[in-house]
Amino acid sequence: MEWITLTIDGRSVSVPKGTTVLQACRMNNIPIPTLCHDPELTATGSCRLCIVEIEGMRNLPPSCVTQATQGMVVRTRTEKVREARKTILELLVANHPLDCMTCQKMGSCDLAKYAYEYQVTGEAFSGGERRQLPIDDSNPFILRDPNKCILCGKCIRACEEVQGRSVLDFSYRGFNTQVGPAFNLPYAESECVFCGSCVSVCPVGALTEKEMVGQGRPWEVKKVQTTCPFCGTGCNFD
Ligand code: FES
Repeated sequence: MEWITLTIDGRSVSVPKGTTVLQACRMNNIPIPTLCHDPELTATGSCRLCIVEIEGMRNLPPSCVTQATQGMVVRTRTEKVREARKTILELLVANHPLDCMTCQKMGSCDLAKYAYEYQVTGEAFSGGERRQLPIDDSNPFILRDPNKCILCGKCIRACEEVQGRSVLDFSYRGFNTQVGPAFNLPYAESECVFCGSCVSVCPVGALTEKEMVGQGRPWEVKKVQTTCPFCGTGCNFD
């Protein structure tokens, strides 16, 4: 295996050739915030939260889709990086319900976690238009609240890459963009088999297990290992 050496935050680190900057950081315990990244899924670089400074580049590239190269000098904690990440979070929060106290995802929401870490108050872009979309309550298993979706696309990739299905996709454009079953059908009228893969990767409260709503926070319930090799529903044969 060929190795390369780069500098991250003043530290010289060696990683296998072909590693992304994000992977290089994580291999060396350098924290980088991510919303759209999942190591099991194709990286798309859509949320931009993982941006870093790289010497010689004028912009701030997303580390999850930037390959580390020999001699690269990366900075992950500069004021410029922090301010840019904070602005990204402020923009996301500006079009996101601020109902964290009653949200099923409270305690395990990545957006809330980073908003706290970056001291995002939701005031920077307040007063703008917010989505007011109907909640998809059409089936017994998954509750879809498109108003909480941050359009990271992880659910789309999980459906396609993990389950080999293509139930979910983006629809509409710009401010009106939504993620959901094709043609914006309710889940119950789609080809969804309710495997739960989309719910498991959603970083916010846009997709939640319906039967859990009001039944327990993530830290109050026990997760079990999926043993069924077929559909990933989570059947446990203990
Ligand atoms: Fe890299 Fe979203 S985690 S762009």
